Amino acid sequence: MNVLIYDTEEQIGIAAGNYMCGQVLAKPNSVLGLATGSTPLKPYNHMIRLYEQGAVDFSKVTTFNLDEYCKLDVEDKNSYHSFMHENLFVQALLGDPAFLLFDEPTVGLDPEERIHFLDGNAADLEAECKRYEESIRAAGGIDIQLLGIGSNGHIAFNEPSDSFQRWTHVVSLKESTIQDNSRFFNTIEEVPTQALTMGIGSIMQAKRILIIALGEHKAKAIKQVISCNVTP
Ligand code: F6R
Repeated sequence: MNVLIYDTEEQIGIAAGNYMCGQVLAKPNSVLGLATGSTPLKPYNHMIRLYEQGAVDFSKVTTFNLDEYCKLDVEDKNSYHSFMHENLFVQALLGDPAFLLFDEPTVGLDPEERIHFLDGNAADLEAECKRYEESIRAAGGIDIQLLGIGSNGHIAFNEPSDSFQRWTHVVSLKESTIQDNSRFFNTIEEVPTQALTMGIGSIMQAKRILIIALGEHKAKAIKQVISCNVTP
């Protein structure tokens, strides 16, 4: 494990964006595991910057997102589909700023084939979780997984619990996570109470993991990780 400490979010954005792009430069058809939230915003900005400079080409990349809310329209501004399209895909992977959620892109990546999300509106959520695991396997596994971490130590939507949930699964969100995420919604009642998430096993199968923590409120969780005291 390498631990790098930076003074500013800007520096983290550059370091993490370079690391993700370095993976794509080394292997153009890389499979990237991606996260949402405020943590990856600067890294995604930097990836877009490098793409715009012509330094990196994402056209052969495949992506899998970590998680998605249940029972939230994918076109809702708070869905993780929307987040990714707004903060990375439209600008860097699809190349056409006019591209909107499931319209045909004009250049680059075919969203149907290369961009993968969990479907939190699937009729059979358990079957959807299995389908996702199989798609990751069929793509050859994740080369690099980008992660944030919650203030309570959650990874993706794997909330603190008594045991590790291994594979992709349905989760009921803890009150603290609903509180944390309510800042993006009009009222706390609008925050979905369930989500689909890759499990810790699915995440740990990634060939490399880049976890980023911003801010003092994450210090306790990160201290435990650094001292190898990792618990469910
Ligand atoms: C996002 C995700 C979450 C966030 C975590 C931190 O896909 O799975 O676990 O990484 O909630 O969120 P931020 O970055 O907003 O502090």
